[in-house]
Amino acid sequence: MERLPLKKLVLIGFMGTGKSTVSKLLAEKLGWKRVDGDEEIERLENRLISDIFAADGEAGFRVIETNVLETILASEESSVIATGGGAVLSEINRELMLSKGFVVALKASPEQIIARVKTDTARPLLQGDAEERVNLLLEQRKHAYDFAHLTIDTTNMSAEEVVAAILTQHMIS
Ligand code: S3P
Repeated sequence: MERLPLKKLVLIGFMGTGKSTVSKLLAEKLGWKRVDGDEEIERLENRLISDIFAADGEAGFRVIETNVLETILASEESSVIATGGGAVLSEINRELMLSKGFVVALKASPEQIIARVKTDTARPLLQGDAEERVNLLLEQRKHAYDFAHLTIDTTNMSAEEVVAAILTQHMIS
């Protein structure tokens, strides 16, 4: 039986693992549209993620996140989708991603993640002592990304190398 080509490549991973950069390069290489879940949320809500967290709390943000993810995945357009680091926490979201696309998890060492996010003021979950917050969330989420079809540890890889690895696996899967 001939398989239809998958039209959605979904990137998951903890904050600071390179989803944004990799999604841009991947979309360019494939000639597909790039959709960033967090950017879509901000665009549709006309509010910053930090303002949504401040007004509606994390629970309110997660409801919006699921709705937006559903919309993004329902589109027929071939796309590379970068999701927020916590989008994997909901069972509904995980099922949606698995049913609609090829799911790739990006991993990185705690040291690299901390170096990338420590001066960031836009991520509500990392305010305060960023190193402590990252370590705590990494512990809480240690298996949260395991459901992916493919996992890549990007710690010692360039974005180009990550893209090449994903494309190789995507073609043969
Ligand atoms: C979050 C990650 C963020 C954003 C929000 C919550 C999380 O996305 O969705 O701040 O729970 O890990 P990035 O992974 O793109 O930073």
